[in-house]
Amino acid sequence: MSTAGKETAMPAHGIEVRHCHALAEFERCMELEREVWGGTERDQVPATIFVVADETGGQVLGAYDREHDGRMVGFTLAMAGMHGEQRYLHSHMTAVAPAYQNRGIGRMLKLFQREDALRRGIELVEWTFDPLEIRNAYFNIVRLGAIVRRFKPNVYGITSSPLHGGMPTDRLVAEWWLKSARVVTALEKGSVQAGWPSRSGLGERIIVPREMTAWKTSDPAKAAEAQRCIGEEFQRCLERGWAVTGLELSDTEDRYLLVPFGEVPGMKP
Ligand SMILES: CC(C)(COP(=O)(O)OP(=O)(O)OC[C@H]1O[C@@H](n2cnc3c(N)ncnc32)[C@H](O)[C@@H]1OP(=O)(O)O)[C@@H](O)C(=O)NCCC(=O)NCCS
Repeated sequence: MSTAGKETAMPAHGIEVRHCHALAEFERCMELEREVWGGTERDQVPATIFVVADETGGQVLGAYDREHDGRMVGFTLAMAGMHGEQRYLHSHMTAVAPAYQNRGIGRMLKLFQREDALRRGIELVEWTFDPLEIRNAYFNIVRLGAIVRRFKPNVYGITSSPLHGGMPTDRLVAEWWLKSARVVTALEKGSVQAGWPSRSGLGERIIVPREMTAWKTSDPAKAAEAQRCIGEEFQRCLERGWAVTGLELSDTEDRYLLVPFGEVPGMKP
């Protein structure tokens, strides 16, 4: 069953997503990378890696604006990966040019990524994201139906990108099980329920204060301390075999919702 119907029925106007294979396209991806992340050359993914990803079963996808000379305005780079026998794609970067953000192009790239992976018999796509970036987390977990079972502290080190604000690059690993009932529901309905607390009444919450974004500039020491505490909580819960399945948003704080992995609705093959 194609689950992309509802979401692809309303693509961003005039935007087309397709595979990239040419060096000139990879160089345009690098331009977008610089535009979106900034930072120094040391932290940029070079064109050679785009070539390697494309040649070795990964994915380089571009979003093109047909109404403006067909220029590339967004891209996704994914590498081919293996967990034991499980083939998967590791989606390393998704970027949309600032002038084109919030028009559904990021979503189009993810949906194309899913369809392409399924066509190739790949049922899992993973990527990392910053647990403090709640909007992105909500998109990954609630709107796309990804779950999280792993936390990686300072995974890329401290980078020069202004987007990372000089903070340790703590990351959660999103697992997007493309054929699961959870993901199918998320894509058909636009969001998926957290299943929290679980059937047996278990549930944990991890709180991210709303001031977190402000603290990053006004009080970096406080932001760093809060990041450390949040990271420890994720580590504690995820090491016990729990999974993040939802997010509760409020005016004062946002809460990640976790249940034991074995009780996540819609995850059984
Ligand atoms: C994240 C990003 C690729 C989304 O692309 P987009 O075309 O703006 O996204 P869409 O319009 O399709 O919206 C999809 C979701 O992305 C999330 N999103 C949008 N802008 C975002 C931003 N600046 N930062 C984080 N998440 C964002 C939202 O949750 C949105 O879902 P919603 O509509 O339910 O709120 C884009 O904002 C971007 O390039 N950000 C900077 C780079 C980055 O953080 N990449 C992700 C990690 S590799």
